Amino acid sequence: MRDFLKALPKAELHLHIEGTLEPELMMALAERNGVRLPYASVEEVRAAYDFSDLQSFLDLYFQGMSVLRTAQDFEDLAMDYFRRAADEGVVHVELHVDPQAHLARGVELATVMEGLGRARRRAERELDLSTAMILAFLRDRPAEEALDLLERAAPYWETLDAVGLDSAEVGNPPAKFAEAFRRASALGLARVAHAGEEGPPDYIREALDVLDVCRVDHGVRCLEDPTLVARLRDEAMVLTVCPLSNLRLRVVERLEDHPLPAMLEAGLNLTLNSDDPAYFGGGMLDNFLACRRAFGWSREVFLGLASNAIEAAFMSEARRAELRERLAACR
Ligand code: ADE
Ligand code: ZN
Repeated sequence: MRDFLKALPKAELHLHIEGTLEPELMMALAERNGVRLPYASVEEVRAAYDFSDLQSFLDLYFQGMSVLRTAQDFEDLAMDYFRRAADEGVVHVELHVDPQAHLARGVELATVMEGLGRARRRAERELDLSTAMILAFLRDRPAEEALDLLERAAPYWETLDAVGLDSAEVGNPPAKFAEAFRRASALGLARVAHAGEEGPPDYIREALDVLDVCRVDHGVRCLEDPTLVARLRDEAMVLTVCPLSNLRLRVVERLEDHPLPAMLEAGLNLTLNSDDPAYFGGGMLDNFLACRRAFGWSREVFLGLASNAIEAAFMSEARRAELRERLAACR
């Protein structure tokens, strides 16, 4: 089964590039840039990753990214991840990026976008890995800041596929960002949003109705509302579920208690993703393997999930056709 899951052409639709920063690279970049971290070793960094909820993770996530200063740092970060992902059979990666977190520490948008852009071009060339980019708004920051970021990103609109909404969910409902998402729509950008990770089912409904999203990131709390589940199923709305993330952020206590099997049973359009692999104990393959262990899913189930991701990805139709063929060869 491991060989099968590794060989499966996996498209990753929910990944925060800053969440791929492994402790080894974090320490190396801290040294390179003279940034002080409250850790003496890679082991100490890992030992700190004992989260009680989303906020306790976000605190370390924002601290960790303080080592990223130059375009070269962003290129190294992304290339480091792209190589690991390609090694485990990932063929397409859609990266959320959080520019507000970098602007707030004096790192220019151009630094972030140029470093990531270089890595994306190299991934295509060197690893046969296609990529897409999602400009994420930090929902615990003011809505005006999101609009300002979108305008500042004008030189990069061509390189973007979508806007997204992430960071602390509870108390920051989707409707707060109605205007920024309307502007993104007018620019021809797709929309996705985290909803129903820690927040209530109403936030999922609001993301659909007010932000007009084409995908919901997480969405696991939808099961609390049967009417919403029926709607998500009827609309074949894609949910980008992140099992190891939900485990490490205590959305569930054990993976065996995860709502994934019930969501599958309800006929929802699900994909599996890693979210922040450096912080949550594994990448795409680890997430697939963890689901195999917890739920005993058959090859057929994993083929279906991998297919859902290829169909929902922001990629050219030529690339989609190629990946469909590669998936069919796994049958
Ligand atoms: N930013 C990075 N990871 C996130 C997550 N799981 N939820 C919300 N915001 C995030
Ligand atoms: Zn996420």
